[in-house]
Amino acid sequence: CGIVAYIGQREAYPIVLKGLKRLEYRGYDSAGVAIINDGLKIYKKKDKVAALEEYASSKDMRSHIAIGHTRWATHGEPCDRNAHPHKSGDGKLAMVHNGIIENYVQLKQELESKGHVFESDTDTEVLLHFIEEIKKSNNSTLEEALRIALKRVVGAYVIVLIDEDNPDTLIAARKGSPLVIGVGKGEHFLASDASPIVEYTKEVVYVNDYEIAIIKADELILKNISNERQTPYIQKLDIDLAAIEKGGYDHFMLKEIFEQPQTIHDSLRGRLDAPKGTLTLGGIREHMDLLKNAKRIIIVACGTSWHAGLVAEYMIEELCRIPVEVEYASEFRYRNPVIGQGDVIIAVSQSGETADTLVAIESAKQKGAIILGVCNVVGSSIARMSDAGAYTHAGPEIGVASTKAFTAQLTVLALIGLKVAMERGSISGQRFQHLLNEMDQVSKKVAIALKLNDHVKEIAEKYKDARDFLYLGRGYNFPVALEGALKLKEISYIHAEGYPAAEMKHGPIALVDENLPVVIVATKDSFYEKVVSNIQEIKARKGKVIAVVTEGDTTIPPMVDDVIVVPAADELVAPIISVIPLQLLAYHIGVSKGYDVDKPRNLAKSVTVE
Ligand code: G6P
Repeated sequence: CGIVAYIGQREAYPIVLKGLKRLEYRGYDSAGVAIINDGLKIYKKKDKVAALEEYASSKDMRSHIAIGHTRWATHGEPCDRNAHPHKSGDGKLAMVHNGIIENYVQLKQELESKGHVFESDTDTEVLLHFIEEIKKSNNSTLEEALRIALKRVVGAYVIVLIDEDNPDTLIAARKGSPLVIGVGKGEHFLASDASPIVEYTKEVVYVNDYEIAIIKADELILKNISNERQTPYIQKLDIDLAAIEKGGYDHFMLKEIFEQPQTIHDSLRGRLDAPKGTLTLGGIREHMDLLKNAKRIIIVACGTSWHAGLVAEYMIEELCRIPVEVEYASEFRYRNPVIGQGDVIIAVSQSGETADTLVAIESAKQKGAIILGVCNVVGSSIARMSDAGAYTHAGPEIGVASTKAFTAQLTVLALIGLKVAMERGSISGQRFQHLLNEMDQVSKKVAIALKLNDHVKEIAEKYKDARDFLYLGRGYNFPVALEGALKLKEISYIHAEGYPAAEMKHGPIALVDENLPVVIVATKDSFYEKVVSNIQEIKARKGKVIAVVTEGDTTIPPMVDDVIVVPAADELVAPIISVIPLQLLAYHIGVSKGYDVDKPRNLAKSVTVE
């Protein structure tokens, strides 16, 4: 979900509406705005921002202040009533909120006993009434009431409030969910990320947890929860408008898939110098002693980032000989994990805002672990909470299904593994140099793999009506199989399972018949011969096999139904290349089924709730 707000001399509604469109990629199911124009007005609609736009088109939307929201349902079904903004009992305050108020049931009961009546099922409306109640009973300002309310609130939030009686002020607060303020000339922009802001100003302030912002057209006051003034730290945005527009592609997802040669190059830039045999990772330098002496590395992540973590497990164990565990952040956090001296946590997250990952590292940090962040979004919450880290530098990823962020994560995690291995002396100088050369070549090989686009599209046409897919791989390619299956599920709504190729015979083989397409990542590596046997096991049961193989392979192609040939690479970097055709396959199947691949149903780009 996302928040946009504006205050200044211009018409606020068009700016907020455009901003909401820019945030559509984050995933949502309803949208709304509040303006002040002859009193407070709220317009909200289930479904897309376009539905809101249509609904508001006949209304007088003039206002110099506006708050807008796209909602991804947590409490209460998606419908007009549950959409944000919500309003206070007296109809004077309007609020938008991202996050979850965990103690809302208790607050709601208290408020109901005082006569409050709620229109929606949301925790947001409860919080707003709570603020209103404090404001009235204490006879305090909105800002004071908010401060008092937030002290009682358990959970995560970004909220933005407007008050009919005070139409020249926006009030915002943050804990746990992101909020960026764009600073213009005599105007301010608020948003959940920089994309709605970048076309107006490059000067931004990232609001910190427990801060409250009081914003007028020409004034920005930041305070902490104890009412002490904070100096806003103005940063320059390093993204431009082109990065968040489609640039001639049909979808962001396709654009981002095709950006990968460049984004991988960007992940390596300033870090890898293969001819000189050097590797520099400034963000982890100071913690290198801790890292190279780590007794254990625990990688925590969710979704696609978790798959990148799995590849990293293979890489780091092989290169560094340090035990690695890869954990779903949400599971890790709540099972009282054993964390001790010498444990290093690597948090992998594209957005840097995923609540599951954030709370996992928060609790690990309290237990004394060192946190290394591998994030894409600069200045994001996870990046800021980490003790050290390396950004992936893939640029804004708009398509909900992650593509370029994944290959950038693999690239950076490989660099971290290589750097630590070199410092530990756990690999030979020769292998180190060889792998640096391989990393240096990878973006070129990805560009070659992208030439498969038309061929993969044909394969997509052939199999798009299948009900299920199986994806198999071994070793480094096992997580690639998981990622291929996840991509297909996410954007084509076809059930797909990723499995270790050998494990297939212990269960999923029961699914194999002439209707089941099986995608096998079978590039030349130390498991190759075994994978060939696995292919035979499937063919013997009449499964349809689509194999991703290395150029020059003459064994597999005659055995299978469809072949996708990728450039040869060391097995350690091969996933960065072999995942490309799987991204394309999912993309083309999703498109051919007529789905909105950039904004798949029910998914959110950045899940800021646990
Ligand atoms: C959401 C997205 C996934 C993503 C996951 C982790 O569920 O839909 O595509 O992989 O979050 O996101 P992160 O930003 O932490 O990498």
